[in-house]
Amino acid sequence: MKELYAVNKYFIKYKWLLLLGVIFVISSNIFGLYTPTYIRYAVDIVFENIALYKLTDGFAKQAILKTYFNYFIMYFACIILITSIIKGLLMFFMRQTLIVMSRNVEYDQKNELYQKYQRLNTTFYKRNNTGDLMSRISEDVSRVRMYIGPAIMYFINTGALFLMVIYMMFNINAYLSFLVLLPLPILVYSIYKVSDIINKKSEQISVALSGLTSQAQEVYSGIRIIQSFGIHQQVQQDFHDASSAYRQKNISLAKVDSFFAPLMLLLIGLSTLLVVYIGGKEVVNGNFTAGNIAEFIFYINMLTWPVASLGWCVSLVQRAEASQKRINQFLKDDNEIVNTAQYPIKSIDTIKFNKATFIYPDTGIQAISDLSFTINKGEKVAIIGKTGSGKSTIAELLLRNYDIESGSISINQHNIKQIDLHEYRGKIGYTPQDVFLFSDTIKNNIVFANQIAENEEILLEKAIQFAKVTHVHHDIMLLKQQYNTIVGERGVMLSGGQKQRMSIARSLFNNPEFVLLDDCLSAVDAKTEKTILHNLQASLKDKTVLFITHRVSAITHFDKILVIDEGKLVEQGRHEELLRNKSIYYDIYQLQRQKNDLKNSNM
Ligand SMILES: Nc1ncnc2c1ncn2[C@@H]1O[C@H](COP(=O)(O)OP(=O)(O)OP(=O)(O)O)[C@@H](O)[C@H]1O
Ligand SMILES: [Mg+2]
Repeated sequence: MKELYAVNKYFIKYKWLLLLGVIFVISSNIFGLYTPTYIRYAVDIVFENIALYKLTDGFAKQAILKTYFNYFIMYFACIILITSIIKGLLMFFMRQTLIVMSRNVEYDQKNELYQKYQRLNTTFYKRNNTGDLMSRISEDVSRVRMYIGPAIMYFINTGALFLMVIYMMFNINAYLSFLVLLPLPILVYSIYKVSDIINKKSEQISVALSGLTSQAQEVYSGIRIIQSFGIHQQVQQDFHDASSAYRQKNISLAKVDSFFAPLMLLLIGLSTLLVVYIGGKEVVNGNFTAGNIAEFIFYINMLTWPVASLGWCVSLVQRAEASQKRINQFLKDDNEIVNTAQYPIKSIDTIKFNKATFIYPDTGIQAISDLSFTINKGEKVAIIGKTGSGKSTIAELLLRNYDIESGSISINQHNIKQIDLHEYRGKIGYTPQDVFLFSDTIKNNIVFANQIAENEEILLEKAIQFAKVTHVHHDIMLLKQQYNTIVGERGVMLSGGQKQRMSIARSLFNNPEFVLLDDCLSAVDAKTEKTILHNLQASLKDKTVLFITHRVSAITHFDKILVIDEGKLVEQGRHEELLRNKSIYYDIYQLQRQKNDLKNSNM
């Protein structure tokens, strides 16, 4: 139960609902408790007076006796009806409080988890797959809800009912009570066992189902590759295998499931049999009335379902505990970027890396070592370097997607760990290297970061403006639905270059102070690149820019060029200076020029 302590805070939060719920549970049981007694009265009256009734056969008195009978039976029927209605009402309120409480907790817990997700850093997301994150927030939370709602409700209900009924039964006949209660522990245990098996099998089924789903999902995403490699038959076979394993698991669950009801009925039947057999003997001995037998059978029936639910509840609690354990693991994960927000960032004046060193926690690769450089407001800075040299890592560190190992990164003289991260990131327009588009319209993808509620027409106008800057407007207008085209999952309908250009338009949309473009033109041809760079020059005039690239030709006019190699800064300066140095930058330049010459001569 230790893991479930984590949800105690919610019981405190919803203490009034919980308390009311408990009161409703107990009072509903009190109202149900006397039904068997009334039935005993009614049965006894009939039994005791039936002989008298028969004796008066043929006399006028018989009619009076009949009215008298009818009156009593109607009287008890009415009492039973009224108490049952009240019991029913109280049960309604019991669900309205306890189950409503569990739904509230579910809502809170989902939000708590989601907030945590928002704060966790990239390492966490690299470590855990999407399926896991989804199942924590959906399946695990709803299992915990089963503990907070139904399990607790049935526990209280069974506890209250059990004490009351046992008290009533022992008052009537202790010996018989003891005997008929004997099968109950077996019932609880066997139901617990069966529920446990059912739960385990259900879990396997849900794992199999999620495997099947992600398998299908991957096939849909990679369908172009699968078809072009002509391996669809093999893929079909894999799917067939997985889906027949899924079917097998379901059939096996159905088998166990069908044990459940017969098992219950068998054990209830056993208790009833004992009541009738031993109770009958007691009636003969004169210790018991026929009404008592009826009463006992009712008590047994009242007890069996709740007691049986105990077994079920125990397995619910076990499942909830396993789920809460997983949730706790996520909540305790400290791969978190904490926004301490000690210093507001009204504008980004300087960004300073000071001997920054960073190692990727999972691979242990030292991506950045001892790196120092400064970017001042309004400067156009470029980073160039070989593939794998650490360029994208610099961008990620600058956004504080990770925290560095040693050294420091400062924004306006404040450590990046102390600034208001939300405000800071809001001033940056970032185009990541691996472009991501949401499966939404092109327009919505571009206006994505828009924080001011503006009307749709103005938004569209602005989207067009930025699409023109990034030279993608023409491409969009060729589509049938133009800006309202849904780009498909991850933008599958668009070419790599189109996606990149839309992504740049998105990063410019909010008029950020600082624009961070990571290799954002790798998928466009040299001519388009030139046009875009030309357009960008005008729109980025007053902004601070950090431009990451492989191509020297794109950055010749930049204020500062940082040459990165194996995570270290090896050279920095303006294009002409660096050429004069005749070092690494010069080599890259020469190499790329030769390649271009070669290309041109081949054309
Ligand atoms: N998420 C990650 N986890 C672990 N290691 C990583 C991760 N991302 C990058 N690396 C490693 O860090 C090093 C630097 O990678 P980075 O992506 O910064 O290079 P890059 O200069 O941007 O390369 P490219 O020009 O190909 O984009 C590489 O050795 C890479 O393998
Ligand atoms: Mg990169």
